[in-house]
Amino acid sequence: MAPTEVPQRIELTPANIPDAEKLSIEAGWNQTAADWAVFIKYGKVFGLLTQDRLVATAAVLPYGEEFGWISMVIVTAAWRLRGLARRLTGDCIENLRSAGRAALLDATQDGAAVYAALGFAPLCTMQRWTGTGRGNAPVPRHDEPARLDAEAFGADRGFLLGNFLSRPGAAAVTRPGGFALLRPGRLATQIGPIVAPDADRARDLLDAAIDAASGPVIVDILQQGATLAPRLEAAGFAHRRSFLRMALGRDRLPGVPARLLAAAGPEFG
Ligand SMILES: CC(C)(COP(=O)(O)OP(=O)(O)OC[C@H]1O[C@@H](n2cnc3c(N)ncnc32)[C@H](O)[C@@H]1OP(=O)(O)O)[C@@H](O)C(=O)NCCC(=O)NCCS
Repeated sequence: MAPTEVPQRIELTPANIPDAEKLSIEAGWNQTAADWAVFIKYGKVFGLLTQDRLVATAAVLPYGEEFGWISMVIVTAAWRLRGLARRLTGDCIENLRSAGRAALLDATQDGAAVYAALGFAPLCTMQRWTGTGRGNAPVPRHDEPARLDAEAFGADRGFLLGNFLSRPGAAAVTRPGGFALLRPGRLATQIGPIVAPDADRARDLLDAAIDAASGPVIVDILQQGATLAPRLEAAGFAHRRSFLRMALGRDRLPGVPARLLAAAGPEFG
């Protein structure tokens, strides 16, 4: 039977994280409680709550003055196709727009329909590859390469990279002019962002990151990182799914896209 209750709109606090995790687990996603905590601490998470449970979420994370990232748009199966995602994404857009920021996001196939109807336009594609780390190179921890990331991504995400690197099992591999980050997720280690000055350095960083990772690995390769595909295949990785990087309020990617080969993940850009 279709639900009839009108859910209450809330802004999530750390106390809601266990319920939010139930939604990201239902969606089969890789985020952890630490990821939800980032959105709550540095941005906002809007939610819709029934008497029983949290049924929908959407998160917004400002990156500098020009734009912000929308993610974690999840509606539990029984509540889909009732306008909940459109409503919460609209709240995120308004949050950014009121501060003069454009909105960017990485859409799943299902999400792209919701965002296109709200006026988002595609900027580039992103391909998710999965495989297994070689687990044979213990990695020293470095200071997070926030400056290189800011140039490539187009906004200072130092707070985010610092947060990643403070987590148990996280690491960075660095080369002149580039770096790759690794952080454990719920299901797999995410390699990304990968920032590199050229294709050779990017392949080298990818190899070093796969060496350093153990167990299941995810890497989200942006369109401009397509030269990494043969290296991923050679390492036994397979292409699993595609995302669409979309924007509302700007018509091009920020930063220096040629240097950002892999994303931090669809939830962080
Ligand atoms: C994608 C998702 C968030 C949509 O939530 P929802 O509450 O059902 O979406 P809405 O009811 O607000 O739909 C808004 C519009 O998108 C359309 N839409 C929603 N889901 C769709 C789908 N799977 N395929 C095609 N169109 C879809 C709706 O028909 C509606 O169009 P309309 O304005 O013409 O009526 C939900 O299916 C979900 O949680 N999926 C799993 C997680 C996910 O992929 N999230 C997106 C991350 S980018």
